[in-house]
Amino acid sequence: MGKLVSALVVLIALLAAAISLTIGWRPFIGAEARPLTSRQFERTQARLDRGRYIFHHLAACVDCHSPHDPSKDGAPVVSGAEGSGEVMPFDGLPGRVVAPNITPDTATGAGTWSDDQLARAIREGIGHDGRALFPMMPYSLYRNMSDEDLASVVVYIRSMPPVAHQLPGTEIVFPVKYLMRSAPRPVTEPVSAPPTKDPILWGRYLTTSMASCGDCHTPRRHGEAVAGMDFAGGNVFSGEWGHAASANITPDASGINYYDEALFIQVMRTGKVRARALSPIMPYEFYGGLSDDDLKAIFAYLHSVKPVRHIVDNTEPPTNCRLCRMKHGGGDRN
Ligand code: HEC
Ligand code: HEC
Repeated sequence: MGKLVSALVVLIALLAAAISLTIGWRPFIGAEARPLTSRQFERTQARLDRGRYIFHHLAACVDCHSPHDPSKDGAPVVSGAEGSGEVMPFDGLPGRVVAPNITPDTATGAGTWSDDQLARAIREGIGHDGRALFPMMPYSLYRNMSDEDLASVVVYIRSMPPVAHQLPGTEIVFPVKYLMRSAPRPVTEPVSAPPTKDPILWGRYLTTSMASCGDCHTPRRHGEAVAGMDFAGGNVFSGEWGHAASANITPDASGINYYDEALFIQVMRTGKVRARALSPIMPYEFYGGLSDDDLKAIFAYLHSVKPVRHIVDNTEPPTNCRLCRMKHGGGDRN
């Protein structure tokens, strides 16, 4: 379920961003790409562990890059097929979008791709074959990933059991196919992570490089974040899972200023705010595996952002909101 959701969100956010950004010459001359290098990331146990954590929890790569079983409640990832890819099953995509098999299978997966081909795809949006990737792959978020976290996730992917799973290629329709070439950008400077000892900085890093809280919780109009409303909620998600707007998670009275660290951890682990069960659109099944320290850091960061008064209440019927200009529960009280 989280998959459906994250994909939809990223679609809303990034597809529109790719189109509404200054277009320039990129659609005509091709995406900006740096040449590949022959670098190889040293395989260490620390990197394997860190990479697994990023892949399954922090960035939830596993959600998009694995087949799901729709016959089971919540459409979980098919066990044993992690990383072997899936055709994105949504209506309204501009063509066929396929999150590829990135397990080391040589015939159908990434077995023959180099470390740098993977690294460039993840942070810079250029596929192993030199093509601009459709920005549903969240590379514009991942470009903030530190060099060490990038190395870890590549080392982990290359250690996964190879899974043979043949998929068709991505085929994006005109004109998006050309417009999206303006989305990839090379990373040419070293990227380092802040000290883990500083909870606010560390939480900010986690939230803005890999965990996509802002993609869902910052209201967007036509793909652009509404100014001054970071993390203030209001994006509406509708589908087979029902209808829910993302919550205001800023430290305002209309947000989560009443939360303490313990309640936050409980919500992220269980998907329940005391007796109230959250919609499965909120991907707690992945975030639930984050460490206490990381959850505390994310909480510290969220408590440091600007409080925004914006009532979003999914227990009320949807009404027009003059702040975020969307239609969500409690909108008429803003
Ligand atoms: C929201 C869904 C989504 C998430 C989350 C996601 N991906 Fe992707 N990824 C995609 C899609 C879709 C493509 C293919 C885009 C295309 O073909 O244009 C892709 C492409 C890739 C590629 C490029 C393959 C190639 O052809 O070279 C790599 C590598 C990759 N993803 C790794 C990752 C890793 C590692 C993570 C987590 C850190 C991740 N992805 C998270 C959807 C996702
Ligand atoms: C795929 C979209 C999505 C992503 C990604 C996401 N959320 Fe949510 N979140 C939601 C939605 C939708 C709700 C409202 C669910 C409901 O009311 O049933 C929600 C609710 C919440 C709540 C409950 C607020 C309350 O008391 O009502 C918290 C806390 C929260 N999210 C924190 C986070 C954090 C922190 C992250 C990133 C680590 C995150 N979310 C990422 C969609 C998302």
